[in-house]
Amino acid sequence: MMAGLRVEGLTKSFNGNRVIDDVSFEVEEGEFCVLLGPSGCGKTTVLRLIAGLETPDRGRIYIGDKEVTHLSPRERDVAMVFQSYALYPHMTVYENMAFPLRMRKVQREEMEKRVLEAARLLNIAELLGRKPRELSGGQRQRVAIGRAIVRNPSLFLFDEPLSNLDAKLRAAMRIELASLHRRLRATTLYVTHDQVEAMTLGQRIILLDEGRIQQIGTPEDVYERPSNIFVATFVGTPQMNLLKGRIGMRDGRPCFVRKDLLVDLPFGGLEGYEGKEVVLGIRPEALAEGEGPFSGRVEFIEHLGPERIVYISMDGETLVMRTGSGFSRSIGEGVRLKADPSGMHIFYEGRNLRA
Ligand SMILES: Nc1ncnc2c1ncn2[C@@H]1O[C@H](COP(=O)(O)OP(=O)(O)O)[C@@H](O)[C@H]1O
Ligand SMILES: [Mg+2]
Repeated sequence: MMAGLRVEGLTKSFNGNRVIDDVSFEVEEGEFCVLLGPSGCGKTTVLRLIAGLETPDRGRIYIGDKEVTHLSPRERDVAMVFQSYALYPHMTVYENMAFPLRMRKVQREEMEKRVLEAARLLNIAELLGRKPRELSGGQRQRVAIGRAIVRNPSLFLFDEPLSNLDAKLRAAMRIELASLHRRLRATTLYVTHDQVEAMTLGQRIILLDEGRIQQIGTPEDVYERPSNIFVATFVGTPQMNLLKGRIGMRDGRPCFVRKDLLVDLPFGGLEGYEGKEVVLGIRPEALAEGEGPFSGRVEFIEHLGPERIVYISMDGETLVMRTGSGFSRSIGEGVRLKADPSGMHIFYEGRNLRA
């Protein structure tokens, strides 16, 4: 039976170091949620707590309506797919996939049926007689996923399952995982440090940093309304431009002031912040050539097929602009830029005043 997942106030320390701090979130039944954050922020620990491989110091875990905080891993009906695949080297693909069913004393016919079904779904039916060492990295990863699928668990946990694959295979597996989820509709919590993977796979993204939740939202939410500087800079490539300055007023309207630079801020949420030190964030694609407040010099241009990533030096800072192939200036030339307000954010003490 499928079920949703809820964790409340999870806290965990190792040797007096708090690595998970008051983490609460929910994954709805049938939802694909991604837990995203930099290496070492606590993602694997959260999965291990949910799977029952670690015990929390505080907090509760529910799968469906049932509290599982103190149940053994076996009693939780959770399948975890590890980055390392963890296949048994001496067993064939078939035996690896059938293993969790054999442990649960599933009947032979039923076992064969489920393994074949999963193998077909994952396009590995012709590999069932091979040993793991006779498989490519991508094929091994499929076997590991297949071993989770045959169990038909309440909840799937994936721990960076694609990070050992090369870029091309990773992109292909992303699409396969997305279509697999559309077919199985299994409740899934998927861990990655790769924001592109998170944005393409996640129905919702849970952003974690230093053991604390930074934001929970759809890919659009976290991109368009990042709640703080961490989220704003972790999601999106090239990274959002950041400039330090303060809030000023021009003709009774708020603006951003930094040395000679004055940028109108035609949006709300800034009342009462006049004179405060803030950080202006600008998405690279919000910058465009035109009669705007920014002027600088082209430092470097990256040609990425249809796109240009242009590095512009401005008063000791570098602005990064993402633009089309129509960009005509060369390195060393002066350039004026404007910024689309929809791609601008103002951070005060790290928090986004627009979010
Ligand atoms: N069993 C453990 N004993 C001591 N420290 C641990 C243990 N497991 C994880 N940690 C520490 O907890 C932090 C988070 O680790 P982890 O959950 O693996 O992060 P991530 O998966 O996001 O890279 C790290 O600083 C790591 O060193
Ligand atoms: Mg990890």
